[in-house]
Amino acid sequence: MQHSLYDLTGRVAVVTGGSGALGSACCRGLVEAGASVVILARNKKRVEDAARALEEAGATAAAGIPADVLKKDQLTAARDLILERFGRVDILVNAAGGNIKSATLKPGDSVFDMPETAFRQVFDLNLIGTVLPTQVFGEVMGAARKNAGKEETETPRTGSIVNVSSMAAGRALTRVVGYSAAKASVENFTRWTAVELARIFGDGLRVNAIAPGFFIGEQNRSLLLNEDGSLTERGRQIIDHTPMGRFGEVEELAGTLVWLCSDASRFVTGVVVPVDGGFGAFSGV
Ligand SMILES: NC(=O)c1ccc[n+]([C@@H]2O[C@H](COP(=O)([O-])OP(=O)(O)OC[C@H]3O[C@@H](n4cnc5c(N)ncnc54)[C@H](OP(=O)(O)O)[C@@H]3O)[C@@H](O)[C@H]2O)c1
Repeated sequence: MQHSLYDLTGRVAVVTGGSGALGSACCRGLVEAGASVVILARNKKRVEDAARALEEAGATAAAGIPADVLKKDQLTAARDLILERFGRVDILVNAAGGNIKSATLKPGDSVFDMPETAFRQVFDLNLIGTVLPTQVFGEVMGAARKNAGKEETETPRTGSIVNVSSMAAGRALTRVVGYSAAKASVENFTRWTAVELARIFGDGLRVNAIAPGFFIGEQNRSLLLNEDGSLTERGRQIIDHTPMGRFGEVEELAGTLVWLCSDASRFVTGVVVPVDGGFGAFSGV
């Protein structure tokens, strides 16, 4: 196996939500593989701090630009800044997203109580927040590959978009109604854009997704762990349905992400890769 297949040296990666729990681990993985990384999220201080941490960890180059994935004008402005400073975009990781507390049914509530506003919010954040960056960055990523060989600077042959789904996409997790529907849509959008872009750009622009299992983050900590660190009832149910018997460590996403972003997966598009300790494979029996 050639190590260089996984090498991302010289590539420019944009990671939405790169200041979050999973997103920042994705950024560290990309940096270790040699990529320059630009983080997009709304909080200016957090994106700048996260970019500085990447530089301290040895990134060739890192930057943090405040942008809301639901505001196309902010994404376009960020893209223009990135092209000015880095010259191109090779990788887009759509990691901004997550559940919204009010979109999870309270114990005892049914789907008939689901607040419409919360449902729309979680759907927008996860689906529209993946669609808009794909449009804004995918367009320039594809155009660069069409011109590959005609430019003075060398553009890697394979550009890669990686979306972030969830175990909630495929099977029902009780109470988690809006988030699950949104992530199922992200998976469908992954397959749809993979086909569309392969028909236009061949192997020049691929689209895949990672479906993480259960990792402790700020959004789900209180749902899964009690204050003393022991498992909540929900946390116990999840561990009982995870054949490996533990939550994931965020660093465990990096290998799959780097594979999907690199030439090692050059003939892979339209797939959703679970990184879940076997949760998705297990019937529970
Ligand atoms: N944690 C898990 O176990 C788990 C499991 C499966 C899937 N996932 C998925 O993995 C992804 C990351 O989750 P996480 O746990 O790392 O979440 P997190 O720690 O809450 O981080 C969320 C990130 O997204 C950014 N963000 C939120 N809304 C945004 C917006 N409108 N525009 C731009 N950026 C926005 C946040 O920064 P700002 O607030 O500053 O904007 C932050 O950087 C999500 O798609 C989530 O659904 C997580």
